[in-house]
Amino acid sequence: MTTTPAILVFAGSARRESLNKKLARTAADSARATGAEVTLLDLRDYPIPLYDGDLEAESGVPENARALRRLMATHHGLIVVSPEYNGFITPLLKNTLDWISRPDGAEDGLTLYRDKVALVLSASPGALGGLRSLQLIRQLLGNLGVTVLPDQLAVGRAQQAFSPDGTLTDAAQMAKLNAMTARLHDTLRALY
Ligand SMILES: Cc1cc2nc3c(=O)[nH]c(=O)nc-3n(C[C@H](O)[C@H](O)[C@H](O)COP(=O)(O)O)c2cc1C
Repeated sequence: MTTTPAILVFAGSARRESLNKKLARTAADSARATGAEVTLLDLRDYPIPLYDGDLEAESGVPENARALRRLMATHHGLIVVSPEYNGFITPLLKNTLDWISRPDGAEDGLTLYRDKVALVLSASPGALGGLRSLQLIRQLLGNLGVTVLPDQLAVGRAQQAFSPDGTLTDAAQMAKLNAMTARLHDTLRALY
């Protein structure tokens, strides 16, 4: 790679006090410390209607989905940090990734995903940290053509998991996150 790896980080929750947004910020800081160029997105800033084929036929891909697609196109890596709802992917995350995957004029929505490498993380007030959905997010990203790295992190009891400076209080978890972002950085450097 001749350019600095660029990594897009976002959470699958729009909630203002989202624990996953907190973890996304921690992951973004960690990725930035590897030397990567990092963009931290808040999907709250990109409201998109629920996918509806009639809406798409009448008005095309919503402008906010197009904006996200343009952002994705300028990044090599993704860090997706999401809660689970009933052990499943959140509607926000699914809807966002679905809209981005749609063809838009001459653009095939899937080509964009194919050269991306991703990490998946989750946070929850529960003990398992949203672990059950990580497999499903992995599967969804894989279906889109994204290469998802094997290491993942689920932060349980997440209301108590963060220091005031945004790092994880559990040193082992923080070390794991740093190792994951370092591996993402190294993989992107090797690939591009
Ligand atoms: C519909 C719904 C289903 C949920 N199901 C789960 C679940 O299966 N496992 C879990 O750990 N937490 C579950 N939760 C709790 C969320 O983890 C919790 O609300 C969390 O704070 C949401 O993430 P956020 O803080 O990033 O918005 C659920 C919450 C909602 C609203």
